[in-house]
Amino acid sequence: MKLNIAVLPGDGAGPEVTAQAVKVLKAIAMEFNHVFNFTEGLIGATAINQTGNPLPEETLDLCENADAVLFGAIGNTSYDLDPNAKIRPEQGLLGLRKSLGLYTNIRPVIAYEELLNKSSLKKKQIKDTNILIYRELTGGIYFGEKLLSDDGNKASDICEYNRFEIERIAHLAFKAAQSRKRKLALVDKANVLESSRLWRRVVQELAPQYPDVTVDYLFIDNAAMELIINPRQFDVILTENMFGDILSEEASVIVGSIGLLASASIGEKHAMFEPIHGAYTKGANKGIANPIASILSAAMLLEHFGLDDEAALVREGVDKSIKLHITTPDLNTKYDHITTTKVGDFIEDFINNPDETNLN
Ligand code: IPM
Repeated sequence: MKLNIAVLPGDGAGPEVTAQAVKVLKAIAMEFNHVFNFTEGLIGATAINQTGNPLPEETLDLCENADAVLFGAIGNTSYDLDPNAKIRPEQGLLGLRKSLGLYTNIRPVIAYEELLNKSSLKKKQIKDTNILIYRELTGGIYFGEKLLSDDGNKASDICEYNRFEIERIAHLAFKAAQSRKRKLALVDKANVLESSRLWRRVVQELAPQYPDVTVDYLFIDNAAMELIINPRQFDVILTENMFGDILSEEASVIVGSIGLLASASIGEKHAMFEPIHGAYTKGANKGIANPIASILSAAMLLEHFGLDDEAALVREGVDKSIKLHITTPDLNTKYDHITTTKVGDFIEDFINNPDETNLN
Protein backbone atom coordinates (compact mmCIF):
# COMPACT_ATOMS: atom_id res chain seq x y z
CA MET A 1 0.00 0.00 0.00
CA LYS A 2 1.15 3.52 -0.72
CA LEU A 3 0.37 6.17 1.87
CA ASN A 4 1.29 9.82 2.03
CA ILE A 5 1.55 10.72 5.68
CA ALA A 6 1.73 14.30 6.87
CA VAL A 7 3.85 14.48 10.00
CA LEU A 8 3.25 17.38 12.40
CA PRO A 9 5.68 16.98 15.30
CA GLY A 10 4.53 20.23 16.95
CA ASP A 11 5.83 21.45 20.28
CA GLY A 12 7.72 20.32 23.37
CA ALA A 13 8.30 16.58 23.38
CA GLY A 14 6.14 16.19 20.25
CA PRO A 15 9.10 15.93 17.84
CA GLU A 16 10.90 13.31 19.97
CA VAL A 17 7.94 10.99 20.34
CA THR A 18 6.76 11.46 16.75
CA ALA A 19 10.23 10.53 15.47
CA GLN A 20 9.82 7.14 17.18
CA ALA A 21 6.41 6.58 15.59
CA VAL A 22 7.82 7.45 12.16
CA LYS A 23 10.71 5.07 12.77
CA VAL A 24 8.27 2.30 13.60
CA LEU A 25 6.12 3.02 10.52
CA LYS A 26 9.24 2.94 8.34
CA ALA A 27 10.14 -0.46 9.76
CA ILE A 28 6.60 -1.68 9.03
CA ALA A 29 6.78 -0.36 5.46
CA MET A 30 10.04 -2.22 4.94
CA GLU A 31 8.81 -5.46 6.49
CA PHE A 32 5.49 -5.54 4.62
CA ASN A 33 6.56 -3.90 1.36
CA HIS A 34 4.52 -0.75 1.69
CA VAL A 35 5.49 2.70 0.50
CA PHE A 36 4.93 5.29 3.21
CA ASN A 37 5.99 8.83 2.30
CA PHE A 38 6.43 11.24 5.18
CA THR A 39 6.26 15.02 4.80
CA GLU A 40 6.69 17.29 7.80
CA GLY A 41 4.68 20.43 8.50
CA LEU A 42 4.73 23.16 11.12
CA ILE A 43 2.04 23.59 13.74
CA GLY A 44 1.53 25.13 17.17
CA ALA A 45 4.01 27.30 19.05
CA THR A 46 6.77 26.15 16.71
CA ALA A 47 4.75 27.42 13.76
CA ILE A 48 3.98 30.70 15.54
CA ASN A 49 7.70 31.22 16.15
CA GLN A 50 8.57 30.61 12.52
CA THR A 51 5.59 32.05 10.66
CA GLY A 52 3.40 33.93 13.15
CA ASN A 53 0.57 31.48 12.45
CA PRO A 54 -0.21 28.34 14.56
CA LEU A 55 -1.69 26.65 11.47
CA PRO A 56 0.14 27.89 8.37
CA GLU A 57 -1.69 27.55 5.04
CA GLU A 58 1.07 25.21 3.83
CA THR A 59 0.44 22.83 6.73
CA LEU A 60 -3.28 22.77 6.07
CA ASP A 61 -2.65 22.05 2.37
CA LEU A 62 -0.23 19.30 3.27
CA CYS A 63 -2.78 17.64 5.57
CA GLU A 64 -5.68 18.07 3.16
CA ASN A 65 -3.70 16.29 0.48
CA ALA A 66 -2.30 13.53 2.68
CA ASP A 67 -3.86 10.12 3.30
CA ALA A 68 -3.32 10.56 7.03
CA VAL A 69 -1.82 12.94 9.53
CA LEU A 70 0.49 11.87 12.34
CA PHE A 71 0.41 14.53 15.00
CA GLY A 72 2.83 15.03 17.91
CA ALA A 73 1.86 17.50 20.61
CA ILE A 74 0.96 21.11 21.02
CA GLY A 75 1.34 23.85 23.60
CA ASN A 76 3.84 25.99 25.38
CA THR A 77 3.74 27.11 29.00
CA SER A 78 4.50 30.73 28.09
CA TYR A 79 1.10 30.92 26.37
CA ASP A 80 -0.61 29.03 29.19
CA LEU A 81 0.49 31.73 31.60
CA ASP A 82 -0.68 34.57 29.37
CA PRO A 83 -4.48 34.81 29.26
CA ASN A 84 -4.18 37.84 26.98
CA ALA A 85 -2.40 36.08 24.13
CA LYS A 86 -4.55 36.41 21.00
CA ILE A 87 -2.60 33.87 18.98
CA ARG A 88 -2.21 30.54 20.77
CA PRO A 89 -0.59 27.20 19.80
CA GLU A 90 -3.82 25.26 20.44
CA GLN A 91 -5.55 27.21 17.66
CA GLY A 92 -3.35 25.17 15.30
CA LEU A 93 -4.70 21.83 16.49
CA LEU A 94 -8.28 23.00 16.87
CA GLY A 95 -8.21 24.66 13.44
CA LEU A 96 -6.87 21.48 11.91
CA ARG A 97 -9.50 19.27 13.55
CA LYS A 98 -12.23 21.59 12.34
CA SER A 99 -10.85 22.12 8.81
CA LEU A 100 -10.32 18.40 8.27
CA GLY A 101 -13.75 17.60 9.73
CA LEU A 102 -12.33 15.19 12.31
CA TYR A 103 -15.47 14.87 14.37
CA THR A 104 -14.82 11.50 16.03
CA ASN A 105 -11.94 11.08 18.41
CA ILE A 106 -11.40 7.51 19.55
CA ARG A 107 -9.33 7.01 22.69
CA PRO A 108 -8.67 3.44 23.87
CA VAL A 109 -7.91 2.98 27.57
CA ILE A 110 -6.41 -0.45 28.14
CA ALA A 111 -4.70 -1.45 31.39
CA TYR A 112 -1.53 -3.48 30.80
CA GLU A 113 -1.22 -6.34 33.26
CA GLU A 114 2.48 -5.58 33.80
CA LEU A 115 1.77 -1.95 34.63
CA LEU A 116 -1.08 -2.37 37.09
CA ASN A 117 1.25 -1.38 39.93
CA LYS A 118 2.14 1.89 38.17
CA SER A 119 -1.34 3.23 38.71
CA SER A 120 -2.12 5.06 41.92
CA LEU A 121 -5.34 3.05 41.99
CA LYS A 122 -5.65 -0.43 43.43
CA LYS A 123 -4.66 -3.31 41.14
CA LYS A 124 -7.87 -5.27 41.66
CA GLN A 125 -9.87 -2.17 40.80
CA ILE A 126 -8.27 -1.54 37.42
CA LYS A 127 -7.28 -5.02 36.21
CA ASP A 128 -8.78 -5.84 32.78
CA THR A 129 -9.92 -2.30 32.09
CA ASN A 130 -10.63 -1.95 28.40
CA ILE A 131 -12.58 1.16 27.44
CA LEU A 132 -13.06 2.95 24.17
CA ILE A 133 -13.87 6.62 24.57
CA TYR A 134 -15.72 8.23 21.67
CA ARG A 135 -15.16 11.94 22.09
CA GLU A 136 -16.94 14.41 19.79
CA LEU A 137 -14.15 16.62 18.49
CA THR A 138 -15.41 19.48 16.34
CA GLY A 139 -18.33 20.91 18.29
CA GLY A 140 -19.44 21.98 21.73
CA ILE A 141 -17.96 24.67 23.90
CA TYR A 142 -14.59 24.43 22.14
CA PHE A 143 -16.06 25.82 18.93
CA GLY A 144 -19.09 27.86 20.05
CA GLU A 145 -19.07 31.64 19.90
CA LYS A 146 -16.60 33.23 22.33
CA LEU A 147 -17.15 36.69 23.70
CA LEU A 148 -15.20 39.07 25.87
CA SER A 149 -16.80 42.39 26.81
CA ASP A 150 -14.99 45.61 25.91
CA ASP A 151 -14.15 46.31 29.54
CA GLY A 152 -12.77 42.76 29.84
CA ASN A 153 -15.04 41.94 32.79
CA LYS A 154 -17.45 39.54 31.15
CA ALA A 155 -16.72 36.49 29.01
CA SER A 156 -18.68 33.60 27.58
CA ASP A 157 -18.20 30.44 25.54
CA ILE A 158 -21.28 28.95 23.94
CA CYS A 159 -21.78 25.17 24.04
CA GLU A 160 -23.75 24.34 20.92
CA TYR A 161 -24.63 21.04 19.24
CA ASN A 162 -26.74 20.17 16.21
CA ARG A 163 -28.60 16.89 15.97
CA PHE A 164 -26.50 15.71 13.00
CA GLU A 165 -23.28 16.24 14.94
CA ILE A 166 -24.52 13.93 17.67
CA GLU A 167 -26.08 11.35 15.34
CA ARG A 168 -22.97 10.75 13.24
CA ILE A 169 -20.68 10.00 16.18
CA ALA A 170 -23.39 8.16 18.11
CA HIS A 171 -23.85 5.70 15.21
CA LEU A 172 -20.11 5.02 15.23
CA ALA A 173 -20.06 4.53 18.99
CA PHE A 174 -23.04 2.14 18.84
CA LYS A 175 -21.32 0.14 16.10
CA ALA A 176 -18.09 0.02 18.09
CA ALA A 177 -20.06 -1.27 21.10
CA GLN A 178 -21.63 -3.97 18.89
CA SER A 179 -18.17 -5.28 18.07
CA ARG A 180 -17.15 -5.29 21.76
CA LYS A 181 -19.07 -5.96 24.97
CA ARG A 182 -22.22 -4.29 23.61
CA LYS A 183 -22.35 -1.61 26.28
CA LEU A 184 -22.55 2.08 25.60
CA ALA A 185 -22.41 4.80 28.25
CA LEU A 186 -23.50 8.27 27.26
CA VAL A 187 -21.84 10.82 29.51
CA ASP A 188 -23.48 14.24 29.72
CA LYS A 189 -24.87 16.80 32.15
CA ALA A 190 -28.50 16.48 31.11
CA ASN A 191 -29.78 17.53 34.53
CA VAL A 192 -28.40 21.02 33.85
CA LEU A 193 -27.44 21.61 30.22
CA GLU A 194 -29.85 21.92 27.29
CA SER A 195 -27.13 20.71 24.89
CA SER A 196 -26.75 17.57 27.02
CA ARG A 197 -30.49 16.97 26.88
CA LEU A 198 -30.23 17.00 23.08
CA TRP A 199 -27.45 14.40 23.29
CA ARG A 200 -29.63 12.24 25.54
CA ARG A 201 -32.70 12.58 23.33
CA VAL A 202 -30.78 11.71 20.16
CA VAL A 203 -29.05 8.70 21.72
CA GLN A 204 -32.37 7.46 23.14
CA GLU A 205 -33.92 7.78 19.69
CA LEU A 206 -31.07 5.86 18.01
CA ALA A 207 -30.88 3.12 20.64
CA PRO A 208 -33.71 0.97 19.15
CA GLN A 209 -31.61 0.60 15.98
CA TYR A 210 -29.03 -1.20 18.13
CA PRO A 211 -31.18 -3.51 20.27
CA ASP A 212 -28.19 -5.66 21.21
CA VAL A 213 -26.44 -2.70 22.86
CA THR A 214 -27.24 -1.79 26.48
CA VAL A 215 -27.15 1.96 26.99
CA ASP A 216 -26.34 3.63 30.30
CA TYR A 217 -26.74 7.33 30.89
CA LEU A 218 -24.38 9.02 33.33
CA PHE A 219 -23.83 12.59 34.39
CA ILE A 220 -20.26 13.71 33.93
CA ASP A 221 -19.66 14.28 37.64
CA ASN A 222 -20.83 10.77 38.43
CA ALA A 223 -18.95 9.28 35.46
CA ALA A 224 -15.73 10.92 36.67
CA MET A 225 -16.14 9.08 39.97
CA GLU A 226 -17.29 5.75 38.49
CA LEU A 227 -14.36 5.74 36.08
CA ILE A 228 -11.98 5.63 39.03
CA ILE A 229 -14.02 3.42 41.37
CA ASN A 230 -14.94 0.77 38.84
CA PRO A 231 -13.49 1.34 35.35
CA ARG A 232 -14.28 -2.24 34.29
CA GLN A 233 -17.99 -1.42 34.14
CA PHE A 234 -17.35 0.64 30.99
CA ASP A 235 -17.08 -0.64 27.44
CA VAL A 236 -17.69 2.27 25.02
CA ILE A 237 -18.12 5.77 26.44
CA LEU A 238 -19.71 8.37 24.19
CA THR A 239 -19.45 12.00 25.13
CA GLU A 240 -19.17 15.57 23.92
CA ASN A 241 -15.96 17.45 23.31
CA MET A 242 -14.95 18.90 26.65
CA PHE A 243 -16.21 16.07 28.83
CA GLY A 244 -14.23 13.67 26.62
CA ASP A 245 -11.09 15.74 27.01
CA ILE A 246 -11.34 15.64 30.78
CA LEU A 247 -12.48 12.02 31.15
CA SER A 248 -9.77 10.66 28.89
CA GLU A 249 -7.04 12.47 30.78
CA GLU A 250 -8.52 11.12 34.01
CA ALA A 251 -8.50 7.64 32.48
CA SER A 252 -4.73 7.85 32.08
CA VAL A 253 -4.48 7.34 35.84
CA ILE A 254 -5.89 3.85 35.33
CA VAL A 255 -3.21 2.78 32.86
CA GLY A 256 -0.34 4.30 34.83
CA SER A 257 0.88 7.02 32.49
CA ILE A 258 -0.64 9.49 30.08
CA GLY A 259 2.30 8.59 27.86
CA LEU A 260 0.48 5.36 26.94
CA LEU A 261 -2.77 6.73 25.55
CA ALA A 262 -3.17 6.99 21.80
CA SER A 263 -6.01 8.34 19.70
CA ALA A 264 -7.50 8.43 16.24
CA SER A 265 -9.44 11.45 15.00
CA ILE A 266 -11.64 10.49 12.11
CA GLY A 267 -13.81 12.42 9.67
CA GLU A 268 -15.52 11.64 6.37
CA LYS A 269 -12.42 12.40 4.29
CA HIS A 270 -9.49 12.72 6.64
CA ALA A 271 -7.89 10.99 9.59
CA MET A 272 -5.34 12.12 12.11
CA PHE A 273 -3.54 10.09 14.75
CA GLU A 274 -2.28 11.69 17.92
CA PRO A 275 -1.23 10.84 21.46
CA ILE A 276 -3.66 12.29 23.97
CA HIS A 277 -0.88 13.91 26.00
CA GLY A 278 0.23 17.50 25.65
CA ALA A 279 3.62 18.99 24.81
CA TYR A 280 5.24 18.07 28.16
CA THR A 281 7.47 21.13 27.80
CA LYS A 282 9.38 20.48 30.98
CA GLY A 283 10.34 17.00 29.83
CA ALA A 284 11.22 17.97 26.28
CA ASN A 285 14.69 17.25 24.87
CA LYS A 286 15.68 15.17 27.87
CA GLY A 287 14.97 11.79 26.33
CA ILE A 288 12.37 11.03 29.00
CA ALA A 289 9.09 11.49 27.12
CA ASN A 290 7.22 8.23 26.62
CA PRO A 291 6.85 7.50 22.88
CA ILE A 292 4.37 4.65 23.32
CA ALA A 293 1.25 6.82 22.90
CA SER A 294 2.66 8.09 19.63
CA ILE A 295 3.67 4.60 18.50
CA LEU A 296 0.22 3.23 19.39
CA SER A 297 -1.31 6.13 17.45
CA ALA A 298 0.72 4.88 14.49
CA ALA A 299 -0.79 1.43 15.09
CA MET A 300 -4.26 3.01 14.94
CA LEU A 301 -3.24 4.65 11.66
CA LEU A 302 -2.34 1.23 10.25
CA GLU A 303 -5.66 -0.22 11.44
CA HIS A 304 -7.52 2.66 9.84
CA PHE A 305 -6.19 1.51 6.48
CA GLY A 306 -7.00 -2.14 7.19
CA LEU A 307 -3.36 -3.03 7.85
CA ASP A 308 -4.26 -5.18 10.84
CA ASP A 309 -1.29 -7.56 10.76
CA GLU A 310 1.04 -4.59 10.61
CA ALA A 311 -0.71 -2.92 13.54
CA ALA A 312 -0.67 -6.16 15.50
CA LEU A 313 3.10 -6.38 15.07
CA VAL A 314 3.51 -2.83 16.38
CA ARG A 315 1.30 -3.67 19.36
CA GLU A 316 3.33 -6.82 20.02
CA GLY A 317 6.48 -4.71 20.00
CA VAL A 318 4.92 -2.33 22.51
CA ASP A 319 3.79 -5.26 24.69
CA LYS A 320 7.26 -6.71 24.62
CA SER A 321 8.92 -3.40 25.48
CA ILE A 322 6.61 -3.13 28.49
CA LYS A 323 7.24 -6.74 29.54
CA LEU A 324 11.00 -6.25 29.35
CA HIS A 325 10.89 -2.85 31.08
CA ILE A 326 12.15 -1.05 27.98
CA THR A 327 10.16 1.99 29.00
CA THR A 328 10.83 5.62 29.84
CA PRO A 329 11.12 6.76 33.49
CA ASP A 330 7.39 7.51 33.88
CA LEU A 331 6.89 3.74 33.97
CA ASN A 332 10.29 2.37 34.79
CA THR A 333 11.61 1.74 38.26
CA LYS A 334 13.89 -1.09 37.16
CA TYR A 335 16.12 0.77 34.69
CA ASP A 336 16.65 4.52 34.78
CA HIS A 337 18.49 4.92 31.50
CA ILE A 338 15.86 3.95 28.93
CA THR A 339 15.34 6.97 26.71
CA THR A 340 12.58 7.91 24.29
CA THR A 341 14.81 6.87 21.38
CA LYS A 342 15.76 3.58 23.01
CA VAL A 343 12.10 2.58 23.31
CA GLY A 344 11.58 3.45 19.62
CA ASP A 345 14.72 1.54 18.64
CA PHE A 346 13.59 -1.51 20.57
CA ILE A 347 10.19 -1.61 18.88
CA GLU A 348 11.82 -1.00 15.49
CA ASP A 349 14.23 -3.91 16.10
CA PHE A 350 11.32 -6.08 17.18
CA ILE A 351 9.49 -5.36 13.91
CA ASN A 352 12.62 -6.15 11.92
CA ASN A 353 13.19 -9.33 13.86
CA PRO A 354 10.26 -10.35 16.04
CA ASP A 355 11.76 -13.60 17.29
CA GLU A 356 15.10 -12.33 18.39
CA THR A 357 14.59 -9.00 20.08
CA ASN A 358 15.61 -9.06 23.71
CA LEU A 359 17.14 -6.68 26.14
CA ASN A 360 20.81 -6.17 25.41
C1 IPM B 1 -6.33 16.92 23.77
C2 IPM B 1 -5.76 18.23 24.18
C3 IPM B 1 -6.35 19.34 23.32
C4 IPM B 1 -7.84 19.39 23.59
C5 IPM B 1 -5.71 20.72 23.52
C6 IPM B 1 -4.23 20.70 23.31
C7 IPM B 1 -6.36 21.75 22.64
O1 IPM B 1 -5.98 18.45 25.54
O2 IPM B 1 -6.19 16.53 22.60
O3 IPM B 1 -6.93 16.25 24.59
O4 IPM B 1 -8.28 20.00 24.57
O5 IPM B 1 -8.58 18.79 22.80
